[in-house]
Amino acid sequence: MNHTDISAESTNIIGTDRASVWHHLTPHSNLKTTDPLIIKSGLGMRVIDIKGKGYLDATSGGVWSVNVGYGSEKIANAVRDQLMEMCYFANSAGSVPGALFAEKLLTKIPEIGAGQGKVYYSNSGSEANEKAYKMVRQLAHINGDGRKHKVIFRDRDYHGTTITALSSSGQSQRKEQYGPFTPGFSEFSHCCCYRCPFGKFYGSCDIECAKDLETAILREGADTVGSVVLEPITAGGGVIPPVPEYFPIIQEICKKYDVLLHIDEVVCGLGRTGKWFGFQHYGVKPDMVTMAKGLASGYAAISCTITTDAIFKQFALGDAGSLGYFRDISTFGGCTAGPAAGLANVEIIEQENLLDNVVQMGDLLNGRLLELKDKYPVVGDVRGKGLFAGVELVQDRQSKQPMHESYAMKLAAHCMEQGVLIGRTNRSFQEFNNTLCLSPALIATRRDIDDIVDAIDNALAANPL
Ligand SMILES: Cc1ncc(COP(=O)(O)O)c(C=O)c1O
Repeated sequence: MNHTDISAESTNIIGTDRASVWHHLTPHSNLKTTDPLIIKSGLGMRVIDIKGKGYLDATSGGVWSVNVGYGSEKIANAVRDQLMEMCYFANSAGSVPGALFAEKLLTKIPEIGAGQGKVYYSNSGSEANEKAYKMVRQLAHINGDGRKHKVIFRDRDYHGTTITALSSSGQSQRKEQYGPFTPGFSEFSHCCCYRCPFGKFYGSCDIECAKDLETAILREGADTVGSVVLEPITAGGGVIPPVPEYFPIIQEICKKYDVLLHIDEVVCGLGRTGKWFGFQHYGVKPDMVTMAKGLASGYAAISCTITTDAIFKQFALGDAGSLGYFRDISTFGGCTAGPAAGLANVEIIEQENLLDNVVQMGDLLNGRLLELKDKYPVVGDVRGKGLFAGVELVQDRQSKQPMHESYAMKLAAHCMEQGVLIGRTNRSFQEFNNTLCLSPALIATRRDIDDIVDAIDNALAANPL
């Protein structure tokens, strides 16, 4: 296509888009001033927009999803072949890729019971989490009078967009104007050392943030709490890894009060942090694990709720009046494109040794971001694990006064002008939308990491306070 063709197509599509598409998370005030970013093609780590401008994508598709990068023939062919063979049948029946992908996933998650767990398919992270909450509620009836149904969640974590998934999310600004929320969900403290909710310092603290779970359980009444849901590393809430002692304490508290541990791996799952799942850095054994996003690297919509066999088997129990099964369905949980794409996706991560690459490139990314911390006083904290990093911006190092959201937006826009797409916390908490988020694909090279950090370096240099 020559330049005239590109600009004609671009004008056309942008006009059509403006006329017909309601975009996610886009303030209406932007519509008058800014053209929508329409990504037309992608290969590896790079995408090209409808106007012909190319970008290095440090976000894996905007929201940490395209783990193995764009344009994978292996995944596209697997999906095509599967769709021609058998596209869909309700998941009350089975499918060939559904069986094979579940078996494969369970080998990556031995903590759930060495191939003994069960995989429940649906379509999005929110839905996977809602399935887990429904399981907890039904288990409360199977094992008692329904009382032990509540879910404890953590401040700053996010578990999804549907009303109940939002009810279990700790991001106040995202929840504004969507109440009333589903009852039975209750919050405990976040675990960000940089902004310790207990005013303590790591090394001299008693990991009060983890112990606050016990306070929350006792406040609600231990006989009413069925599960706790946690991101292994908080993602959209500011990229917050816990300290090593954190999860073992959480596990102990769960055991003590017979509370199920539900880990939300929607962002961290499938290699993002250098292990198959984020919780595997922390020596815990969850009872339920949910995943979506990188599960099929965005080539098809698929999510999973994985539980232990012990949980699965309880659904057969109960008195004569009990249902004897999980009374739930997800129409598109029967799509075969998802597991076919997922299987190919996992094979790519295995065959290309991408977990090793994440560890190596993650170290490089972290090291280079720490150089920015030395160089610019506005960089208050650098956090993350593997190819998953957050850069928290402050107005003042000493007071840690958070930087305005508009400054983070300015940096992201400057990176975009340089041809690098970065993410940021987006209207999640009043006054705390001050973290740049990086999640390049697992295939990132040294050159990619350098180009990403150089772009941020340039943006910081061009935007002194
Ligand atoms: C940790 C976490 N859980 C759940 C979700 C919800 O996933 P989805 O948007 O696929 O419903 C998200 C989405 O960003 C997430 O970050």
